[in-house]
Amino acid sequence: MNVAVLLLLGLGLLEAEGRCFFSRTQEHCVCYNLSQESIGSIIQCLPASVVEFWGGELEKYIAFPISDLDPSTIEMLGSLIVRKIIFGDLLVPEILLARVLRFFSYTHVQELVFESCIFEGRGSWAEMANQDLPILSLRFHNVTSAPLTGREQDFSSLSSWLETLQELAVTSAHVTSLPCGIGRVFRALRSLDVAQNSLGDDSLMPAFCEGAFPQLQVLSLQHNNLTSYHSVCKSVQLLRELQHLDLSQNKLMADPSSSCQWPVALRIFNLSNTGLDEVLTPLPPSLEVLDMSCNHLHTVDVSLSTLKKLFLNQNMLQAPPSVRNYPMLDTLDLDNNLITELPLDEVKLLGHLWDVAAAGNPYNCTCSGAGGLQALAGMGHLGQGWPQGYTCHSPPHYQGRLVKDVPVSVLQCNSAAVIAPVCIILALLGVAGAICLVRSRPGLIQPCHKV
Ligand SMILES: *[C@@H]1O[C@H](CO)[C@@H](O)[C@H](O)[C@H]1NC(C)=O
Ligand SMILES: *[C@@H]1O[C@H](CO)[C@@H](O)[C@H](O)[C@H]1NC(C)=O
Ligand SMILES: *[C@@H]1O[C@H](CO)[C@@H](O)[C@H](O)[C@H]1NC(C)=O
Ligand SMILES: *[C@@H]1O[C@H](CO)[C@@H](O)[C@H](O)[C@H]1NC(C)=O
Repeated sequence: MNVAVLLLLGLGLLEAEGRCFFSRTQEHCVCYNLSQESIGSIIQCLPASVVEFWGGELEKYIAFPISDLDPSTIEMLGSLIVRKIIFGDLLVPEILLARVLRFFSYTHVQELVFESCIFEGRGSWAEMANQDLPILSLRFHNVTSAPLTGREQDFSSLSSWLETLQELAVTSAHVTSLPCGIGRVFRALRSLDVAQNSLGDDSLMPAFCEGAFPQLQVLSLQHNNLTSYHSVCKSVQLLRELQHLDLSQNKLMADPSSSCQWPVALRIFNLSNTGLDEVLTPLPPSLEVLDMSCNHLHTVDVSLSTLKKLFLNQNMLQAPPSVRNYPMLDTLDLDNNLITELPLDEVKLLGHLWDVAAAGNPYNCTCSGAGGLQALAGMGHLGQGWPQGYTCHSPPHYQGRLVKDVPVSVLQCNSAAVIAPVCIILALLGVAGAICLVRSRPGLIQPCHKV
């Protein structure tokens, strides 16, 4: 951390004073290890729109008398431009949080983040009843606290605020369950990120019970302990507004003929790195973005008429999927598969896409193989990976060479097409020559005389 501060100071980005560092250009203020002595340096953070507090000893302030605010302090709080506050590496006594949080109602803070914090004890939230806060986004990352179960009373005291919250993230926090009642409080929540926790198949159904998170559009369950595709589908069925679901980095298994229907609004589906060796069905019917990268897929043989972006990089495909199955497709990622050749009729269709990536495949640089890729590159649709990411694995004399450098001129590639006409011309010339010769020297060809 010190190195970073020195670096920033060296770059002249920050003005140092006390323990807070303010970057005027970015309206960003960072305070380290604030103590009672250095707390005055917060003053310079007043013009910042983002303020971070790292380290320090909050527990000292538990006994601090926090009286009601006088009108001038309230006016000052209202004039602050700070929109986002980050607390990191702190021990947060919940009693203190409960006492301080209501003062946020006088500010315009919209985003509150707690990173690597430990919440201690249990505060009384009764004073927060019917309090509105301007905070719309609340994030907890790598935090430890008392379990959520059994805290419905606390949540109901906070409900008039939580009912208006739009974004909630609780990541890397060992969450194993979300009680049904909690989801019902978050009536306006649009985005819930519970990545990197320990939610299992059985804990999802109660979390998304009837009436929970009725407005939820974005849900990340990345890197949890989910295994059943079918049971995830059943669990999120009631989230009617759900548009974006991230199940990446779970180890999902195919269920025998699952009949569950995904929410119809679902447009973005992330199944990256979920251990798939076949495409799971059913898929949401109106998908626009499907990420199945980093799996063990050998073939992809599904039709999705609304799909726009398909990510199949890092799989074991030996051939690209037929683009005919995706009439709306504009982006296709086939990097790092086992594709040896893009068939020429596919290349023509791929040429209609906006963005195709197919680097890191073991290409067979026959004339049609290399020619197809060169044609695609010529249309300007192969992304940044071209040409350095496209190398030949066969035939032996091209091994290791760039596909770009394989000569694919007509003479080298289609020798039959060139040589046949040349032979015919030569043959014709030969015949013509012979006839001329005969005509000019009629005596040359003599009938055989029988002696
Ligand atoms: C998580 O938070 C703890 C403190 O609660 C801290 O010691 C640890 O370094 C943090 N881990 C990461 C990866 O930030
Ligand atoms: C993951 O789930 C399995 C059972 O489905 C359980 O045995 C295991 O303890 C869980 N792991 C974690 C980290 O919660
Ligand atoms: C899917 O999730 C992975 C992380 O697991 C991420 O890297 C990738 O960008 C996501 N894909 C999309 C389309 O958002
Ligand atoms: C490359 O293509 C040629 C011609 O189609 C074929 O004979 C050869 O077996 C292929 N090589 C590999 C390694 O697939």
